[in-house]
Amino acid sequence: MERRTIGAGALEVGAVGLGCMPMSWAYSGSRQRGDESLRAVNRALDAGSSLVDTADMYGPFTNELLLGRVLKERRADAFVSTKVGLLVGEQHIVANGRPGYVRRACDASLRRLQTDVIDLYQLHRADPEVPVEETWGAMAELVRAGKVRALGWCAVGARGGRRSGGLYDGTIRQLRRVQQVFPVGAVEAELSVWSPEALETLLPWCEARGVGFLAAMPLGNGFLTGTLKPGRGFEPDDMRARHPRFTAEMMAANQPIVAGLRRIAARHGEGVTAAQVALAWVLTRGRYVVPVPGAKQERWVTENAAAAGLRLTPQDLAEVAKLPAARGSWE
Ligand SMILES: NC(=O)c1ccc[n+]([C@@H]2O[C@H](COP(=O)([O-])OP(=O)(O)OC[C@H]3O[C@@H](n4cnc5c(N)ncnc54)[C@H](OP(=O)(O)O)[C@@H]3O)[C@@H](O)[C@H]2O)c1
Repeated sequence: MERRTIGAGALEVGAVGLGCMPMSWAYSGSRQRGDESLRAVNRALDAGSSLVDTADMYGPFTNELLLGRVLKERRADAFVSTKVGLLVGEQHIVANGRPGYVRRACDASLRRLQTDVIDLYQLHRADPEVPVEETWGAMAELVRAGKVRALGWCAVGARGGRRSGGLYDGTIRQLRRVQQVFPVGAVEAELSVWSPEALETLLPWCEARGVGFLAAMPLGNGFLTGTLKPGRGFEPDDMRARHPRFTAEMMAANQPIVAGLRRIAARHGEGVTAAQVALAWVLTRGRYVVPVPGAKQERWVTENAAAAGLRLTPQDLAEVAKLPAARGSWE
């Protein structure tokens, strides 16, 4: 697989990564698929998808534990990205950016991941009660202590808006502030055919500074793959059950986007999928961009890794540019 160098720290990874979140969090059925998930992680590493993206709050904790079982045997094959700063309670998720907490959370992540160093340690959300420089300073100390190789910020909003539950996306202004404390190695934010907002200011900001860009939700939470049927619904524990873009009406209204991706896929031969076109498009958005498609099924991991070899033509790109904008607010 093509390799990409992300971030000022020159971290080298396979061009398509693996998002581990669906193995333990946010998608229905996540919790009963341990063995399948282990096979999926191993498959990704075999295929050269070295960047594995997790977080302590996925599960909570079980996603890191699962990944740790693979890393124990194959640490050298992986580039480990995990996140700190969110605590999952009975009813709410709260941010905690206190330096002492960050230090303890890092040690706990290292234990769960069965490794002595995290390649990319990301701030999951800033704590509104703690100046972000203090949180970032504590994370920088972890780099100096050799526990972490580079720092990142996950969930930087294209609009800098507030998310549900009182959690805030990061903003470019905040990125500028933490850059004064310690370099930002990478940013992780949503980027896909149906959510291209990051292309306006966030991605150019990253590119101008050599900051890596991890494209989260590159498959539109599964929608862009064309495998989700409008009206079939989602289990109550699936985040898409509450997402405005995943009502039966909106999924039906957005089908022309999937149809467009399928048309392009068909031109590239039998077996090429809409999912692969969606990922190949993300890869064309810049040389520091690494999509991290989430998957717990081995067959999806194989398919997604192969997207690194799919070269979209100028005609393909022009067609993607002409696809209708997604309907249904994300807020
Ligand atoms: N969603 C968020 O709020 C968020 C925020 C920040 C970071 N992230 C990170 O970004 C990663 C990616 O985001 P995401 O997982 O939410 O969304 P995504 O990558 O856009 O889509 C994941 C979904 O697509 C399905 N899928 C994957 N490959 C497929 C294929 N080739 N064909 C058909 N279906 C396929 C997966 O199914 P299976 O699960 O059944 O395999 C899963 O349900 C996460 O894993 C996480 O590491 C996510």
